[in-house]
Order: sequence, then C-alpha cells, then structure tokens
Amino acid sequence: MGVTGSIACYKAVDLASKLTQAGALVDVILTDGAQQFVTPLTFRSVTGRPSFTDMWSREVHVPHVGLGEAADLFVVAPATAHTLAKMAHGLADNLLTVTALAARCPILLAPAMDGGMFDHPATQANIATLRKRGVLFAGPAEGRMASGLTGLGRMVEPADLLGYIRQVLAKSGPLAGRKVVVSTGPTREPMDPVRFISNRSTGKQGLAVAQAALDAGADVTVVHGPISEPIPFGATAVAVQTTDEMGNAVLEAAQSADALFMVAAVADFRPNTQSDKKIKKTDEQWGLAIGLEVTLDILTAVKAQRDKSGFPRVVLGFAAETHNAFEYGRDKLLRKGLNFIAVNDVMDQGAGFEVDTNKVLLLSSAGVVEEIPLQSKTAVAERLVHHVAKSLNGN
Ligand code: CTP
Repeated sequence: MGVTGSIACYKAVDLASKLTQAGALVDVILTDGAQQFVTPLTFRSVTGRPSFTDMWSREVHVPHVGLGEAADLFVVAPATAHTLAKMAHGLADNLLTVTALAARCPILLAPAMDGGMFDHPATQANIATLRKRGVLFAGPAEGRMASGLTGLGRMVEPADLLGYIRQVLAKSGPLAGRKVVVSTGPTREPMDPVRFISNRSTGKQGLAVAQAALDAGADVTVVHGPISEPIPFGATAVAVQTTDEMGNAVLEAAQSADALFMVAAVADFRPNTQSDKKIKKTDEQWGLAIGLEVTLDILTAVKAQRDKSGFPRVVLGFAAETHNAFEYGRDKLLRKGLNFIAVNDVMDQGAGFEVDTNKVLLLSSAGVVEEIPLQSKTAVAERLVHHVAKSLNGN
C-alpha cells in the first residue's frame, strides 16, 4: 500500500487496518508528504508489519524491488494529483514511485484531491495515460472536501475500497466468470400490517458465503430477507420479505446460475389469514381463529426447475437441526435433490443463530465431505465455497 500526502491519509490507516483484519499482509510505503499527516508507526501498529519511508531500510536490501515483486496488488490510497502525474510520466524520485515502476502486480489508485484538481485537463490526461497502461482506479467520490468545496475529489471510503481491492484480487479465483446466488436472512410472514411470524436469523452466515464467493471471483446475487448487516460490496442485492417473494427471486436468479447457496432461514409456516388493518385486542375471535399454513418449499421448487433446465448446476442447502443432525441432514439432502448440505446443530454453543461462529457437517450424497470445526462464519463460508467451486470445476 502506498500512501501520499493528503488529508485522506487518516482514511488510509483505516484501510490498512481493514485489509489486515481481512487477512491481507500489508506493507505500507509513506511519501514525505504522507508523513506530514501520519507516521510509519501508525501503520506498523495496525498492520503488525514494517512500513517504509524514503530512508533505505537497513534490514531490506533494495526494498523497492522486493516490495514490488512480492505484492499481489499495489494500492496507492490516497493518491495525490502530484503522485498520479509522476506515475503517468514514469518518474521515480521516491520509494513509492520507484516501487510502482518495479511492481509487476496490478496497481489500483484511489485519488484524493481538492478544489477542481481532479477535473483539470492535466490530471485527466495523466489518468487516461495510466488507464491505458492497465492501472485501475477507485473513485474519487463526490462530496465535501477539506477546503469546504463540494465536488469530485474525495478518496473512496475505506469499506468500499476494501470491496474494490477484493474484486481485483478475485479476478483469477476459482469462481471467476461463474454466477452464484446466495439466499440469506429470515423471511417474514405478516399477520396484519404491524405483526409477523419470523425467526432469529441475522443473515451473517449467508453474507459470509456471498463474500467468499465474491473473493473467489464470482458474480454474486444475494436474495435476502430483513437483515441489518450490510450486503458485501460488489454483490447484487434483492430484498424480499415473505417466503413466496424469496421463492420467486431465487427461482429467477437461479435460472442461469452456476451455484445456489440456500442459506436463508425460510419461514415454514404463515398465518392462514391476514388482516389488512391492525388486529385490535378486542377482536378476540381473531386470536382463536388464526391458524398456520405451510409455505412454499423453495428448494423443492428449485429442484423442479433444475430437473428441466439443468440450472443451477450445483445446489448447497443448509439444515438447521436441534437433534439427530446427521440423519435429518442426509434426509433433506436426498429429498431436496441437493449436491451438498451444510448441517448445523443450532443447539451447539457457538453455532447457528446470532453468533459470529459456526460448526458445520458438510454432506454430499456420497457421505461426509468435511467436518468443519467451530470457527468464524467467514472461515466456514470459505470451506463451503471451496467445495462448491471444486465440484463446478470438476475436480
Ligand atoms: N428451505 C426452503 N424452503 C422452505 C424451508 C427451507 O428452501 N420453505 C431451505 C433452507 O433454506 C435450507 C433447507 O431448505 O437450505 C433446509 O431448511 P430447514 O429449515 O433446515 O429444513 P426444512 O425443510 O424447513 O425442514 P424442517 O423444518 O422440518 O427441519
């Protein structure tokens, strides 16, 4: 990561931290300008790795070549108009620009500049030159700048930049060019305009699967019930409420999908009658009369569609169980015509709803594929995506 002299340096610290938390090994090069805003120690503290300045390091021989060659990606964030100009002309007067010349990996620039500098023909010409050479750009975003002016020039927010970075790194992943649909969250079955039946699903595991599929290079659609967690950057989101709505959205998206991960905790029952006005406490007969009816089984409908069209090619379902997890899981796999089923014992501590961890028994019709031990939902998602990618790629 290269950091140049802009007030957006404070966001660069957040980006370095987010990248590190996402598992990246982040080496930071600061220009003299950047050090006016932030110190190498700040970056070292969040990355746990060395950060570099123009002082040649005693430990690392020829650091620019080493840094440029070892990197999977060189991100310059923030990238000032001046550094853009230098890079466009191949100037190499500091460790950052020298490393940019030595780098053989993709380069992603996140420009940050104030007061119409971005629109200036010189900056635009430099950007055009860099783009022609394959350099990638994220932003700048529009909004209020340090001078108080409003316009195009703000560095893209670190969370979005992390999304761009993941997309660039995913380009050669095992699901590159593949279309993946993930359903997640609960569904809601209304009783009246203010009441509904639902469940405790937060959508975390499905969102982690969506992120893992994006990281593997897939084009991802997330069909989600009401959840408060953000949808991963780069995914297409389809928001639904009821099981019927989720069914329609999943069937449509799955028509041309390579893989479907049905992670949603779909409501199995809905009130058999709904009031279009709020039911009053005095309407006692309502309470007595209300019954439940079974909703659409989405995976069974997917199976019928798939039997005709062959899509989606691979289907992974989840099974939330409170007992006899293996037997019930296997039965669901066969009944719903799945390639894989990820069985969850939701009574297990640290697994299932409202926690960041999960423990999953992954089954296929051939038997146990993997016992995925208790770990983060992110790590579980990566294992599931790995197995589905392997099955799609025929190995
Ligand atoms: N599922 C579905 N449509 C439903 C209910 C569930 O497609 N109406 C999907 C879930 O998304 C999950 C799988 O089927 O991938 C198994 O869900 P689960 O709730 O464990 O099983 P059910 O089929 O609902 O059976 P039961 O409640 O009897 O365990």
